[in-house]
Amino acid sequence: MRPSRTAVNLNVEVGPVALRSPLIAAAGTVGSVVEFQQVVDFSLYGAAVAKSVAPVPWEGRIAPRIAPTDVGMLNGIGIQNPGVDVWATQVSPHIAAIAAPVWGSIVAHDIDGFAEVAGKIADTGVAAIEINLSCPNLDGRPFALDVDLTTQVVASVREVTDLPLGAKLSPDAMPITPIADAAMSAGADWLVVANTVMGAAIDPETRRPLLSGLIGGYSGAAVRPITMRCVLNIAADLPDAPIVACGGVSDARHVVEYILAGADAVAIGTAHFAKPKVAQRITKDLKTYMKKQSVSALSEIKGAFEPW
Ligand SMILES: Cc1cc2nc3c(=O)[nH]c(=O)nc-3n(C[C@H](O)[C@H](O)[C@H](O)COP(=O)(O)O)c2cc1C
Repeated sequence: MRPSRTAVNLNVEVGPVALRSPLIAAAGTVGSVVEFQQVVDFSLYGAAVAKSVAPVPWEGRIAPRIAPTDVGMLNGIGIQNPGVDVWATQVSPHIAAIAAPVWGSIVAHDIDGFAEVAGKIADTGVAAIEINLSCPNLDGRPFALDVDLTTQVVASVREVTDLPLGAKLSPDAMPITPIADAAMSAGADWLVVANTVMGAAIDPETRRPLLSGLIGGYSGAAVRPITMRCVLNIAADLPDAPIVACGGVSDARHVVEYILAGADAVAIGTAHFAKPKVAQRITKDLKTYMKKQSVSALSEIKGAFEPW
């Protein structure tokens, strides 16, 4: 058989943002981005998202705060971060040297906190801002599980910056579409679908939870079908909402799966811990798939899964 002559390009558009690759490094899985540039080849990514930063330094939870499970991992780090002022003075001066556009990720316990961090991080050279809504507010309610809180956070951030904005949802929101709709209506340019699934595990020998905080975020291969369901729901209900799918990606097939489900781009998270160079193989295999299937751009197959 003659080899396919399809010229493939990996360019994608996520709302107002053009990316040279559909691969995005997910928040918190490549540190602040800067310290990972020796091990991760960011030139293979369309964007790299930094670990979430808050208005003030957060110490995070005590150890243990990361635990492997049979499939995937649990983390209960508590979003340890140095705070936005330290980010601005010590980290952001280095992001211009990163081989991908860097997106800042913001988190806070109240609405004003989100706006404060957004206002400060917007001036640090980040190409876009991701709003991490999967964090509890002062009453202990995660923003991403509540339509009104989601609306208020996204609107407050939209008010202080013109930068492209992604709203990162929780797969625990059920139904998820009203939250997605609220985020888009309040000014988000795209949805990141999604953060970790809430989970927990207990060691039968010590009888102690694997995480000091008992409940944490579950991520990796096993969450992919859950995240996939979220992407499918949102793509069906809000066909105009751009989607960055995020959950359990470690292979080019997973990227294609998400694009077929309706995503525009795909973020890689937990896979970085075992294989920091995972994007190399994904990029190669993705191009091979596209050539074989005569797909010249991924937008051609967006949402193009065949129903039974
Ligand atoms: C150790 C760890 C730290 C994370 N930190 C953040 C974070 O700071 N902000 C955020 O929005 N998501 C954070 N996440 C969630 C990931 O960005 C991603 O949404 C999630 O892990 C699902 O994707 P995956 O299955 O590919 O890991 C973190 C995940 C892990 C495993």
